[in-house]
Amino acid sequence: MWALLFLLLSGSSLGAEEKPAPGSGFVGSNVCRSCHPDIWLNFYKNPHYKTIALGKEPPERTGCEGCHGPGKAHVEARGGKQTIPRAFSLMKPGQILDACLACHSKDFARVNIRRSEHTQADVVCSSCHSIHRSPVPKFLLAQKQNEMCYGCHAPVRAQFSMPFKHRVNEGFMQCSDCHNPHGASAPSWRMGVRPRMVEQASGNEEPCLKCHSDKRGPFTFEHPSVRVDGCETCHFPHGSTNAKLLRRPLIFTVCLECHNGAGNFGRRGQGIALQSASHNMLDPRYQRCTTCHVRIHGSNSDPLFLR
Ligand code: HEC
Ligand code: HEC
Ligand code: HEC
Ligand code: HEC
Ligand code: HEC
Ligand code: HEC
Ligand code: HEC
Ligand code: HEC
Ligand code: HEC
Ligand code: HEC
Repeated sequence: MWALLFLLLSGSSLGAEEKPAPGSGFVGSNVCRSCHPDIWLNFYKNPHYKTIALGKEPPERTGCEGCHGPGKAHVEARGGKQTIPRAFSLMKPGQILDACLACHSKDFARVNIRRSEHTQADVVCSSCHSIHRSPVPKFLLAQKQNEMCYGCHAPVRAQFSMPFKHRVNEGFMQCSDCHNPHGASAPSWRMGVRPRMVEQASGNEEPCLKCHSDKRGPFTFEHPSVRVDGCETCHFPHGSTNAKLLRRPLIFTVCLECHNGAGNFGRRGQGIALQSASHNMLDPRYQRCTTCHVRIHGSNSDPLFLR
């Protein structure tokens, strides 16, 4: 601690940096200071400062040159973009991805980061992270998370401004509570759909269950739509003009989309049951199905979810 403080105050060195072997092309981070003082002087706050402070890493994984490559030619030429091996402003998205993954590949499942919708659309690490000018305290994000995501996903902002919504704009939740911007595996709860980078919680669960754990089950009597099709069959995940984030304004219209007698599967081979004849659909009482079928997400005591 005191040693670190001393180094910062004296300003003579970035840390316990090893002297790189002559001939390697690496010159060490201290050499960068004279021409890039602003970046250099802020670097001790960067999580990447660890690569110097630890002092154990080889030069290609240490300090400025860990990302920008060996700096000898650049220093001898007194600067220039072409002389530094990794000048990010000249790099293609795929090259940036590879440069960061040289150290960070262990943080992400390979298939997810390589095949994510973001990577496929050339949205890579430096689109969301700012190594030298991050205005937020965590994760070197280029902007506050929601604002950054909205910058490219404007329609989603409108969804989180609807009358019923998850409170993302209020700062109560973030996109990353449900999404992994680095890509996610195909969901296990909806067959054959695009993953939409919805993060799976433990046990391949929907992220919703991290917070709404009472909907998790297993229940003695499952409502298959919850288990198999997933929450977003009936709910909008972001926001809705309908109470409880429902996809339809009236509850019975949500139900009747499936309960229309189609198919010949299910517990009794009758497909998805029509509501029984006892239900008088002209009676408004029957239109709010969940006043009686209260345990609509599954029940431990009644196969018709009545209690
Ligand atoms: C973790 C990787 C990483 C490390 C470590 C790193 N840089 Fe950078 N640097 C970048 C990236 C990425 C950019 C492109 C701009 C951005 O996204 O912030 C950049 C841009 C720059 C630029 C030019 C543009 C600007 O933002 O002013 C300079 C100069 C620079 N870095 C110098 C340094 C110096 C000096 C160090 C060591 C103190 C260093 N870098 C350490 C990744 C890194
Ligand atoms: C003698 C001065 C000098 C030294 C020492 C120096 N640089 Fe530079 N560097 C420059 C100048 C000048 C530029 C601007 C080039 C331009 O914009 O055309 C530059 C640009 C850069 C860039 C920007 C490339 C881009 O994407 O625009 C990076 C990265 C960089 N330097 C990294 C380093 C690193 C790392 C070190 C230490 C190993 C270092 N520099 C040492 C003078 C220097
Ligand atoms: C030379 C190896 C190396 C390279 C290359 C590298 N990083 Fe890192 N990165 C690290 C280390 C080490 C840490 C600190 C990890 C820790 O604190 O446990 C780190 C931390 C981070 C963090 C912060 C994580 C946190 O928990 O706060 C982000 C974000 C990050 N890196 C992004 C990038 C990006 C974007 C690039 C490419 C421009 C990149 N890194 C390139 C080694 C590297
Ligand atoms: C679409 C935006 C986006 C892209 C592209 C992106 N990140 Fe991130 N990254 C984020 C956000 C947002 C967080 C913070 C997540 C949180 O709050 O839990 C984060 C967190 C991180 C972290 C720290 C926590 C963790 O998940 O391990 C690291 C390290 C990191 N990113 C590195 C990278 C690297 C390396 C790349 C490129 C291969 C990259 N990121 C691409 C948005 C992005
Ligand atoms: C630099 C622009 C950019 C940023 C920043 C960005 N995205 Fe994206 N995002 C895209 C593009 C481009 C696509 C692929 C095209 C599409 O499907 O919209 C995409 C796709 C997605 C998808 C999949 C959409 C689908 O239809 O399958 C999700 C989910 C997503 N982004 C969430 C996020 C989140 C969360 C953040 C913030 C952490 C974020 N994005 C930040 C540009 C961006
Ligand atoms: C409560 C969990 C949750 C939060 C918070 C959340 N999302 Fe989503 N998002 C989802 C789910 C689930 C889907 C998939 C919906 C589907 O496939 O019908 C989705 C789909 C998307 C899509 C693709 C479909 C579309 O509507 O265009 C984008 C883009 C997206 N989210 C961006 C974001 C951004 C940006 C944020 C933060 C501002 C965010 N999401 C916050 C759960 C969430
Ligand atoms: C980070 C925790 C968290 C996650 C993840 C989450 N929710 Fe929520 N959800 C909440 C909280 C807290 C509320 C209470 C309403 C508020 O914030 O104003 C809520 C409200 C709701 C409501 C409305 C309840 C009411 O009484 O009006 C529904 C429906 C809902 N969430 C469904 C989902 C679905 C579907 C997902 C996954 C796509 C999900 N939630 C993910 C925390 C979460
Ligand atoms: C078959 C359609 C359907 C599916 C699938 C579904 N829900 Fe619901 N959900 C409803 C209906 C209908 C209501 C409104 C109940 C009411 O008005 O009493 C509701 C209400 C809610 C509420 C607010 C009231 C309460 O009971 O806490 C939350 C939270 C919620 N659902 C979360 C989820 C989550 C999380 C999932 C996925 C695990 C999910 N729902 C799947 C139909 C569904
Ligand atoms: C995504 C399709 C889907 C939606 C939407 C849906 N259900 Fe179901 N529901 C099913 C399936 C599939 C079964 C199981 C049928 C079987 O096993 O015979 C079922 C079973 C039931 C049962 C048990 C009946 C029986 O015959 O075992 C009731 C009661 C029920 N649903 C009520 C509702 C209500 C009320 C709603 C609206 C809030 C609703 N469902 C929305 C698909 C759906
Ligand atoms: C007033 C309470 C009440 C309301 C409202 C209600 N139900 Fe029922 N529902 C019942 C009862 C009680 C049963 C079992 C006895 C019977 O079949 O009448 C039942 C049975 C069912 C069954 C099983 C039928 C079978 O053949 O196995 C389904 C499916 C069903 N309801 C769906 C719905 C749907 C969809 C709605 C909304 C349109 C709804 N219910 C509204 C009380 C209600």
